[in-house]
Amino acid sequence: MDIYRAPDSRVIHPSILYFGTPVVLITTRNPDGSTNITPMSSAWALANRVVIGLAGGGQGLANLQREGECVLNLAGEDLHEAVERMAPTTGAAPVPDWKRAIGYRHETDKFSLAGLHALPSLGVGAPRIAECPLQLEARLLLAIERPLEAWRDGAGGYVMAELEVLHVHAHDEVVAPGTQHIDPQRYLPLFYLFRHYVGRGAAHGRTFKAEV
Ligand SMILES: Cc1cc2nc3c(=O)[nH]c(=O)nc-3n(C[C@H](O)[C@H](O)[C@H](O)COP(=O)(O)O)c2cc1C
Repeated sequence: MDIYRAPDSRVIHPSILYFGTPVVLITTRNPDGSTNITPMSSAWALANRVVIGLAGGGQGLANLQREGECVLNLAGEDLHEAVERMAPTTGAAPVPDWKRAIGYRHETDKFSLAGLHALPSLGVGAPRIAECPLQLEARLLLAIERPLEAWRDGAGGYVMAELEVLHVHAHDEVVAPGTQHIDPQRYLPLFYLFRHYVGRGAAHGRTFKAEV
């Protein structure tokens, strides 16, 4: 009989737990009608719902709570440089103290900064990002404000937001021909993995439910 020997392990205290989730660029409308882009990655999907986590004090969060809608633009792995150009910025003015202290600056035009282009949406006011292979128009169903004492940056808290996806826009090149399905061989999302940008790597098979 084989005796299983567990890998050696230890208890550690990492400063963050970003274990690898897709990079989403959230477009929202500012009070003056211009568009903000919020890079984020704390997101998961179930059926036509997406739940996201956003730190307090951000412009995208304020816009989402005020207007009740947004577009979740899923970044492809080719967009990592564009995402990083926006990373040290916020649409919020004044810049919250804790963000200014770690190098954030105010930015009104993240499209130009990142070299991205806007496309009108069907059902929400905020535009889509043309370069993103998947763009999900969504409306806010629920926002739960939560304190987060452990947040060393001092953001003060975060919001768990439940969104209902209204329309899914997909680049032709990521759709399996003749179907309504995303082809995982063609779709190359960008992931945020412990503060590094990575691609999806090799495929390792499919579940019994896979449709393409
Ligand atoms: C790749 C990446 C992932 C991020 N993920 C999140 C996230 O999941 N939640 C969050 O609140 N902020 C996240 N951030 C930080 C926000 O982008 C940052 O707070 C930004 O200033 C928000 O912009 P806004 O204030 O214009 O909305 C992430 C940043 C990057 C670059």
